Amino acid sequence: MSRITLSRFLIEQQRKAGTLPPELRLLIETVGRACKAISYSVNKGALAGILGEAGTGNIQGEAQKKLDVIANDFLLDANEWGGSLAAMASEEMELPYHIPGEYPKGEYLLMFDPLDGSSNIDVNISVGTIFSILRCPEGIDHPTQEAFLQPGTKQVAAGYTVYGPQTMLVLTFGSGVHGFTLDREHGSFVLTHSDMQVPESTQEFAINMSNMRHWEAPVKRYVDEMLAGKTGPLGKDYNMRWVASMVAEVHRIITRGGIFMYPKDARDPDKAGKLRIMYEGNPMAFIIEQAGGAATNGYQRILEIQPQGLHERIAVFLGSKEEVERITRYHQEQ
Ligand code: AHG
Ligand code: MN
Ligand code: MN
Repeated sequence: MSRITLSRFLIEQQRKAGTLPPELRLLIETVGRACKAISYSVNKGALAGILGEAGTGNIQGEAQKKLDVIANDFLLDANEWGGSLAAMASEEMELPYHIPGEYPKGEYLLMFDPLDGSSNIDVNISVGTIFSILRCPEGIDHPTQEAFLQPGTKQVAAGYTVYGPQTMLVLTFGSGVHGFTLDREHGSFVLTHSDMQVPESTQEFAINMSNMRHWEAPVKRYVDEMLAGKTGPLGKDYNMRWVASMVAEVHRIITRGGIFMYPKDARDPDKAGKLRIMYEGNPMAFIIEQAGGAATNGYQRILEIQPQGLHERIAVFLGSKEEVERITRYHQEQ
């Protein structure tokens, strides 16, 4: 059988009972095209002079890497003229980006973390792009941040691209999770992973252990129990991984199971966590749930949280169902 490229896959999905409107199909393809451009830049690294600091900061108060800015620009440039979008919002921009007047506007809102794991770019470790798509509420011509503040259950599509040993685009529009590998010779994403599923149970966890002294009691309890191994209350030995690129952790979990945690901690009591609900929490929760896993903030499904701000942060626990249910129970019981 011939290979199924991303374009063919999306067209065939569109034909199937109209589950994927043509405008959304075009939008997903365009995001994929921008990710290809980012992938080529990431691959060139020092040869293209794209490593190192940009010398600027973003709205999160974080120093921007050159590649944070380059990836953001690729996504804006690729998506502003296609006619599917009402506006875009990015981790790297304080306010929504409006579609320039010379281009037609569409009915969707696109949000992205253009470069996730940017501390890893200079040391040649996997980074990624995360995106989430919502419908723009009716009657809004000039979407402000309020238009974006919809719970994750309203997402019509979400995905990530991991720039690792292979570049892979992993995508959901609410009927399972589909994985495509970039074929550089042909310049196209090819379906290589159909119906990706997170194993229900696991013996692998991911958390930044250096923050242990700042964690809340339920997280301390759970990690202590995992570290106690076979003779502890959980009755099994665990393995630990921490890449510091959420995209790479989620990709590992979707491939072989695991739990990823970025809890709220006491370093900055005003923040509910490090990761952002609109660009990281919601899209990853949608993908993980579609792959049979679970995602909570310790108390409730991430997808059901009503966001209060474009750059709002939340605690994230996601991955294999049994483990996410356990840490959620520990929060609820305290
Ligand atoms: P970003 O590069 O978009 O700011 O995201 C980095 C995030 C996430 O990818 C990763 O899991 C986490 O921050 C790493 O945090 P630590 O630096 O605390 O390890
Ligand atoms: Mn990120
Ligand atoms: Mn980022």
